[in-house]
Amino acid sequence: SQYQNILTSRPADGVALITLNRPKALNALSSPLYEELNHALASFDADEGIRAMVITGSEKAFAAGADIKEMKDKDFSDAFKNRFLENWALLSQIRKPIIAAVSGYALGGGCELAMMCDIILASPTAVFGQPEINLGVIPGGGGTQRIARVAGKSIAMELTLTGRNFTAAEAVSWGLVSRISDKVLDDALAMATTIASKSAIAVQAGKEAVNVAYETSLTEGLRYERRIFHGLFATRDQKEGMAAFAEKRKATWSHS
Ligand code: HXC
Repeated sequence: SQYQNILTSRPADGVALITLNRPKALNALSSPLYEELNHALASFDADEGIRAMVITGSEKAFAAGADIKEMKDKDFSDAFKNRFLENWALLSQIRKPIIAAVSGYALGGGCELAMMCDIILASPTAVFGQPEINLGVIPGGGGTQRIARVAGKSIAMELTLTGRNFTAAEAVSWGLVSRISDKVLDDALAMATTIASKSAIAVQAGKEAVNVAYETSLTEGLRYERRIFHGLFATRDQKEGMAAFAEKRKATWSHS
């Protein structure tokens, strides 16, 4: 493989799987791992044959955080000059849907990586948390912002300031996680396969529209949604999807 810290595969038609693979470090997200993850995501995003992606870790750890051993001797000028963590934002530029299948520890940067994905499925064993406060810092990969937007101020404050772990059931109750599954990777791959069976252009438009909800007012968001909706009437797949319904047959997508 071209990667040392991740594994990549195509387990189903249109579906890419990225497995974080530093088992001895509980998938701590080192810079080399993150560069490989970004490279794999960008490659699959550009690949016409891929329409949905899944990111997973191991049974024991999705990822136990950013690599503390790599971070511990950093100073401010080094972090600032080298734009430490800025490349984490690349995941949000990916157009195709990304599902996180989380088992075991998803702590710190691991929790933040999962929350950057579009959908999270968690195994009952998943242990989430933003423990950075215990290291004398705060979340730096979006944790404070994403938890606050989804779960609200009180929960975001509690998790950020106490650093306590939280369960998959709590994450579901707050809306951070879609659902709990005891075969989480199978379920994530099945969901990815379902998504990959739809029109890729409509799927990517849907992802873009939902993401606008986190960036703008309701009025602007509704306008944006309507414009993208209008735009889809210029696609072949809209013609095909609606013709297939009228003709009582299954649509064959050209993804265009
Ligand atoms: C580097 C890590 C690591 C991490 C675990 N390891 N987490 N190395 N960075 N985040 C390493 C351990 O040092 C150890 O290496 C090996 O993985 C196995 O871990 P153990 O601690 O022996 O396992 P266990 O006793 O089962 O405990 C699991 C654990 C614990 C509870 C998850 O490892 C832990 O607390 N890890 C740190 C969690 C954390 O604080 N995450 C947030 C990081 S800060 P050796 O060589 O000893 O065998 C962060 C900032 C985000 O993420 C900023 C923005 C991205």
